[in-house]
Amino acid sequence: KNILIINGPNLNLLGQREKSIYGNQDFLSYFETLQADFKDQVQLTYFQSNTEGFIIDKIHEVGFQIDGIVLNAGAYTHTSVAIGDAIAAVTSPVVEVHISNVHTREAFRHHSYLAKNCVGVICGFGLESYRLGILSLLK
Ligand code: DQA
Repeated sequence: KNILIINGPNLNLLGQREKSIYGNQDFLSYFETLQADFKDQVQLTYFQSNTEGFIIDKIHEVGFQIDGIVLNAGAYTHTSVAIGDAIAAVTSPVVEVHISNVHTREAFRHHSYLAKNCVGVICGFGLESYRLGILSLLK
């Protein structure tokens, strides 16, 4: 199986950015742990972009062949009709994930333009939200 993790804006700064919310670990070191843990079951790949259109291009590129996408679109979750439409357009299942529990935070983080086109939403488990996203796609 092949699963792609996509991280959106500002998630390249994990480990440096708002550590009390997002933790101390950088994503690439966590990603290596995930790759090792899932190596017998799934080929994991990773893409990050701070640009809405590049995230859409990547969803189009892989979204008709891959077994699933774990997507943390960052703040675009709360603003992007276009990423929501891209998820609807492709055939691969997409799981929306968030590191923080967005529902305990500002009201503008409570709404997602992506969720209705996703197979499910996982939030609030720190970086382990990504692992839960992968597990949900493997079931
Ligand atoms: C986030 C939550 C978003 O509201 C925020 O804009 C992010 C990260 C999370 O993983 O908790 O950039 O998606």
